[in-house]
Amino acid sequence: MNLPPGIERVLFTEEQVAARTREVAAEISEKFRGRELKLIGVLKGSVFFLTALARELDIPVKIDFLAISSFSGHAPGSAPGMVRIAKDLDEPIQDEDILLVEDIVDTGFTTRYLLQTLAGRGPRSLAICTLLDRNVRRIVQVPVDFRCFEIPDRFVVGCGLDYKQLHRNLGYIAVMNPDKS
Ligand code: IMP
Ligand code: MG
Repeated sequence: MNLPPGIERVLFTEEQVAARTREVAAEISEKFRGRELKLIGVLKGSVFFLTALARELDIPVKIDFLAISSFSGHAPGSAPGMVRIAKDLDEPIQDEDILLVEDIVDTGFTTRYLLQTLAGRGPRSLAICTLLDRNVRRIVQVPVDFRCFEIPDRFVVGCGLDYKQLHRNLGYIAVMNPDKS
């Protein structure tokens, strides 16, 4: 396969991602059988995974999105792991079954912030589904209810994940090495 510049190697092929998404969707459909589920996506990284997952679910599904900004800790007054909502959900989530859909749970700061914020709005239930889990880098513990893949400590792109906003559209998940041409 011809890999774009900067892509070191494929970690999971498009077929593996599709197969695993189908398996996880089946688990989710079983867990929420007889209920409606609202998927909440975090822009922009989770969009590709969220739509793929949604199409494999065989329960009634609603979707909504929010966007966040996170700070590296370099800007004055910002602490590492600080997160805020840049675009909020369109609708309330009170008394609804909510599945927060993430591209990757890395340090856990983003997920913990979102869980706390969403929990405060009185959903009936709140669970997390992530495409990728890089548990080796976790700083704050968060409960990951559904995951497609556990990954090693390498920067990855594809299936919604970007490097400087590039490569979100790759169908596979790949290890990124910007020095490789
Ligand atoms: P956390 O708050 O450290 O868990 O960071 C999660 C966010 O960092 C993700 O939603 C991604 O936007 C970004 N991120 C973390 N690791 C990667 C990676 O390997 N590739 C692309 N984006 C990443
Ligand atoms: Mg990103």
